Amino acid sequence: MTVQERQRPSADPEAAPWWRQAVVYQVYPRSFADADGDGLGDLPGVVSRVDHLAELGVDAVWLSPFYPSALADGGYDVADYRNVDPRLGTLDDFDSMVEALHSHGIRIVVDIVPNHTSDLHAWFQDALAAGRGSAARERYIFREGKGADGAEPPTDWLSVFGGSAWERVPDGQWYLHNFAVEQPDLNWDHPEVRADFVRTLRFWSDRGVDGFRIDVAHMLTKDLTEPLPSRAELAELPFDGQHPLIDRDDVHEIYAEWRRVFNEYDPPRTAVAEAWVDPKRVPLYAHPDSLGQAFNFDLLQADFDAGEFREIVSDNLALAAASGSSSTWVLSNHDVVRHATRYGLPKLGAAQRGRGAVKQGSAWLLSGGTEPELDRVGGLRRARAATLFVLGLPGSAYLYQGEELGLHEVAEIPAAERQDPTFFRSQGEEIGRDGCRVPLPWSADLPGFGFGVGTPHLPQPAWFAASAADVQAKDPASTLSLYRRALELRHQWQTGETLEWLDTGRADVLRFRRPNGWEIVTNFGAEPFPLGDGKIAVSSSDISDGLVPAESTVWLAPIA
Ligand code: GLC
Repeated sequence: MTVQERQRPSADPEAAPWWRQAVVYQVYPRSFADADGDGLGDLPGVVSRVDHLAELGVDAVWLSPFYPSALADGGYDVADYRNVDPRLGTLDDFDSMVEALHSHGIRIVVDIVPNHTSDLHAWFQDALAAGRGSAARERYIFREGKGADGAEPPTDWLSVFGGSAWERVPDGQWYLHNFAVEQPDLNWDHPEVRADFVRTLRFWSDRGVDGFRIDVAHMLTKDLTEPLPSRAELAELPFDGQHPLIDRDDVHEIYAEWRRVFNEYDPPRTAVAEAWVDPKRVPLYAHPDSLGQAFNFDLLQADFDAGEFREIVSDNLALAAASGSSSTWVLSNHDVVRHATRYGLPKLGAAQRGRGAVKQGSAWLLSGGTEPELDRVGGLRRARAATLFVLGLPGSAYLYQGEELGLHEVAEIPAAERQDPTFFRSQGEEIGRDGCRVPLPWSADLPGFGFGVGTPHLPQPAWFAASAADVQAKDPASTLSLYRRALELRHQWQTGETLEWLDTGRADVLRFRRPNGWEIVTNFGAEPFPLGDGKIAVSSSDISDGLVPAESTVWLAPIA
């Protein structure tokens, strides 16, 4: 089946653009499959596993950064935006990968990281060499320090990864880095910066890329008029489009230009914004004149709870409708503790929610995975139920590699082998994100569990054997079999982008119906729920006697 034949239906199956209700599978390429045996996943590795993706039934792959990088932040420190890291392959390998995916009807979305480059990017190296006051420094955000000899940073701002957001260079100036020291922020007031990213978008679009995921899309533009506010002053400012650093209205001028570029292509290239902003402002990013779609991270930050899930779904469907886009649903990605593990730990409670989903499970990770005790079986049961709930929702679902194997977060990574800058910048107070980035187990009995013949770049735990893809493929009750069956039915049954909630008489049971009669019932509670009539087509747990078991989801077939 080719990409053209695999258009996903919507309200009008013929007319809906492919992305509106797509299942997009995130590949973190350094940990997916290693074809050359150097311990690091690569692009030929992705090609070697295209059959897995096709059998799973995904519509698109989102590839996290594969560009040349010193890996100060897992590849989100890009040294060259229009090339492939030599350890991951070549541009020819990239083209072969696009061809392999497209020939299986799978689209490809690549990650664009526009807020910052790597410190090894030619522009930053030029800026260092050219010195203060040079044109090369204008592409970044350089300032003089404060205090005697300018030895204090220009402000007391903190980076997202911990520590100061400013770093001093040998001639005494400081540069801004909202993330790692090795990720200097670009100056988006500079016309060359704008022009270069347009060139990058065209470069990959011309190579057949179908869409883009835009990293920290809400942070590119900044108002750095002196005097700069202090951290305390910043904390008082509202996020109303005029904040000096976050979610500024003027960032949409950039995306309007990008949209014009995307629309030069047939079909138009798509984009999805990673924007950690007030929900009311998400539609600005998701609007068809802007990036066109935006991630909704609410479920990442929620407990496995009927009330929370229902509210999040209703709110986000309304937001998506307001923007003209479709909603997105995410339970796991490369930045957060895997959802099987989150749901196996004590509930968070509303008070602790926030971007801190990254932090959910952090106490458990800090204890090496011992405190509090992880309920591995219950966590996976709830994760399967949540996934089946999400896959029935209108809009697109973003899956993260390994969740189809029901993988838990890996806690047992020795400090000496950790890679995430969060761990180093916080002096070990935060463990960081390595535990969801451990190379995948493909085969129970092969070295590296079939990831590759070399030593994997992050250590795999022995318990990966039981979750290996080859073991699960043979087991009709496995999580892999559940994902395959669910995606197959989802493709067959996909329908208009709406739902109707049905009364269940129970606060811990949600039931909704899609326009064609497809029904999804999730029992978040401990007591079985009697289903009444209806033919169960797929279920996240063993089912008998017309009861939906505790912490389980079932799908009922649409009306024939
Ligand atoms: C995004 C990415 C994350 C990265 C950060 C800085 O949040 O998802 O992995 O560390 O941006 O680029």
